Amino acid sequence: MLLRDVDAGDVDAYRRMRCDPVMMADLGGPMPPESVPGQLRHDIDLVARGAGLIRMIVPDPAEPATVAGTVTLVRHEIDGEPGGEIGWMVLPEHQGRGVAKRAVRLLLDEARDDGRWSRVHAFPGVGNGPSNGICRSLGFVLLGERETPFRGEVFRTRHWAIEL
Ligand SMILES: CC(C)(COP(=O)(O)OP(=O)(O)OC[C@H]1O[C@@H](n2cnc3c(N)ncnc32)[C@H](O)[C@@H]1OP(=O)(O)O)[C@@H](O)C(=O)NCCC(=O)NCCS
Repeated sequence: MLLRDVDAGDVDAYRRMRCDPVMMADLGGPMPPESVPGQLRHDIDLVARGAGLIRMIVPDPAEPATVAGTVTLVRHEIDGEPGGEIGWMVLPEHQGRGVAKRAVRLLLDEARDDGRWSRVHAFPGVGNGPSNGICRSLGFVLLGERETPFRGEVFRTRHWAIEL
């Protein structure tokens, strides 16, 4: 597996992830297709500004055109302190094979090597079994549950954090 920066060619992968009601069930529901190019531009700009890492998951480096999903780490102030929030998405045909867990581990390793990240937070929905499993098995500490506002809605989430 390798991770690469998001780029302008990722519009189809973005559409397949962001417009799918099942994929977006814990993320505020599907986006309208017309908002996808703007989201992609926003993410490319975010990386260019150094405000975060938006990485595309390529499961087999011998097939660089096949993208399985994304892992993201974005700078945020969380509970009044600077930190990073990590998130992940894996397309249905790649799910259930450990792709998300491996990609999250790789991104945490990159962030650790980068040296500019310290505490990384994750806020998976309380009912998101795989995402909470990823946090637990990669050494995140469970800090509690909270209501997390996201895209105009409020979600009941777990709060996990890891020190890099
Ligand atoms: C969440 C998501 C990224 C998981 O991707 P994935 O590649 O299928 O996940 P993995 O195969 O790496 O599995 C992760 C872990 O969850 C476990 N798991 C899988 N399904 C599970 C379930 N229903 N309940 C509990 N654990 C589960 C796996 O066994 C694995 O743990 P292990 O390695 O210790 O055995 C994917 O389902 C997705 O994109 N969903 C939609 C978007 C989303 O919800 N993103 C997260 C928002 S917080």
